[in-house]
This record gives sequence, structure tokens and C-alpha cells, in this order.
Amino acid sequence: MSPDPKRPGRLSGRVALVTGAASGIGAGIAQGFAAEGADLALVDLVDESAAAPVLDAARGLGARVSYHRADVSDEKAVRAMAAAATDTHGRVDVLVNNAGIFTQSLLEDMPVADWDRVLAVNLRGTFLVTRVLIEPMPARGWGRVINIASQLGQIGGTEVVHYCASKGAVIAFTKALAREVARRGVLANAIAPGPIQTPLLDAETPAWRAAKLAELPIGRFGEVSEAVPTAVMLASDDGSYYVGQTLGPNGGDVML
Ligand SMILES: NC(=O)c1ccc[n+]([C@@H]2O[C@H](COP(=O)([O-])OP(=O)(O)OC[C@H]3O[C@@H](n4cnc5c(N)ncnc54)[C@H](O)[C@@H]3O)[C@@H](O)[C@H]2O)c1
Repeated sequence: MSPDPKRPGRLSGRVALVTGAASGIGAGIAQGFAAEGADLALVDLVDESAAAPVLDAARGLGARVSYHRADVSDEKAVRAMAAAATDTHGRVDVLVNNAGIFTQSLLEDMPVADWDRVLAVNLRGTFLVTRVLIEPMPARGWGRVINIASQLGQIGGTEVVHYCASKGAVIAFTKALAREVARRGVLANAIAPGPIQTPLLDAETPAWRAAKLAELPIGRFGEVSEAVPTAVMLASDDGSYYVGQTLGPNGGDVML
């Protein structure tokens, strides 16, 4: 990798792949990475037209951007997506596993299908995408994996046992992976944001959001722009001594 003199920045010359990039935190990370000089492979379930605002914003910042429509829980689709992204950009240096979903119900009412789908996207998807994209990183001696977990995976939350289980597992997955690859130059870390204003948060019930707001030390929900700098730091050389950590832009919802 050599930095691109025309696009200076902390990620100049890097190629980053971000899943769930069409909306919310993933869209913000894509834009933040482009602003720091990265080229981008952006992945989401939605049509390319629905992702157009994110693609246009990143291209407006000078990034070379490709879009890959894929369901991260589908092994075949993930393999095809990874091959297309690698063909387009030559390699992927930074992987952000951000795609995630959420439904809400008490455990006793929770449809098994909801449990299965949330675990499939949030946990299996993280495994599948990481497995295929991490493989060439050790030979290059440099790589970053950033998994977007959640503070609910650390402290739990009512009506979201599946989501909490998936995100707690993503944190454990990240620690185990970090131990496997750190000495080969690949650093894996997690970000566990608190409640951030996105369509995912909007989908929670008003009662749930009011209860969460009441217990948040900072007294407000976060903005996407308040989670993005943590991802930029971990992706860049500024993150060179972070291994298996879970960083928390969370408004004080978790204090370790
Ligand atoms: N917003 C919050 O309060 C909050 C807090 C903590 C953690 N998170 C996590 O941050 C991540 C991003 O969430 P967000 O709030 O930006 O949500 P969002 O709903 O705005 O964006 C999620 C994106 O993921 C995509 N996606 C969903 N399923 C997919 C699949 N199977 N394959 C590919 N793409 C898929 C969606 O189409 C969407 O574009 C998620 O992992 C979420 O769990 C969010």
C-alpha cells in the first residue's frame, strides 16, 4: 500500500469494505473513511439506487467506490461479493462488519424466526464475511477488522434477548479472532455504540426509547458522526496498539 498523494488522509491508499453501508452508522463510516482517503467497497441488501446517496457522497470526496448487493448471512452471496470487491479494488485492507438488524419482543413472545434471523445477520454474517476477507490479510502483514457490536451486548436490554445475545457473541468473536491474527499484523476490534439516531433506533417502540433515554447519563441519543471517529481511528495507524478491544461511544450507557 502506498498513500495516494492526491487524496491525503489517515486512510490514504487503503481499501475498506463496509457492510450495511446504505444507512445509518455504516453510511457514516463509509463517508468518514472516504474523507480520510480510503477507496470503498460498500455492501448492503438494498438496491444500488437506494444506496445512491452514500455512493455519491463518497465519490464526491474523491473515493473510488464499488457497490455490492448481498445478504451477509448467505454464504454463497458473501463469497461472490468478496470476489467482486477484490477484483475491483485488488484487495481489502479494512473490513467493517456493520450490517445488523433488530426486532423487539419479550422472550416468551419471541418468534423463533426472529431469533434465527437476528443471529444469522448479526453473528453468522460477521463470521462469513470475516472468514472470506481476512484470509489474504496475514500474507500482506497488515489488516483491520472492525466489528460493530452494541452496548446492549455488554449490559443487556429488555425485549431484545436475541439482539443482545448476537452482539455479546460478536464481542467474544472479536476477542478470539484478535488472538489468532494479531501477530500476523491483522488487528481485530469491536465498537459497541450506545443508542445512535438511525432508522434502527427509530424502529424501537417509543416506550423503549423513552426508558433508554431516561437512564442514559448524557441525557440524549448519539449522532452517527459521534460513532464514526472511533472507526476511523481503529482503521488507521492511530489504532496500531488496539487488539481485541471493545470501544464504546455510548453516552455513558456502559462504563467499564
Ligand atoms: N443505532 C443504534 O442505536 C445502534 C446501537 C448499537 C449498535 N448498532 C449497530 O450498528 C449497526 C448499524 O446499525 P444502524 O443503526 O446504522 O442501522 P440501519 O438500519 O440504519 O442500517 C443497517 C444497514 O444494514 C443493512 N442490512 C440489514 N441486513 C443486512 C444483511 N442481511 N446483509 C447486508 N446488509 C444488511 C440494512 O439494509 C441497512 O442499510 C448494526 O450492527 C447495529 O446493530 C446500532
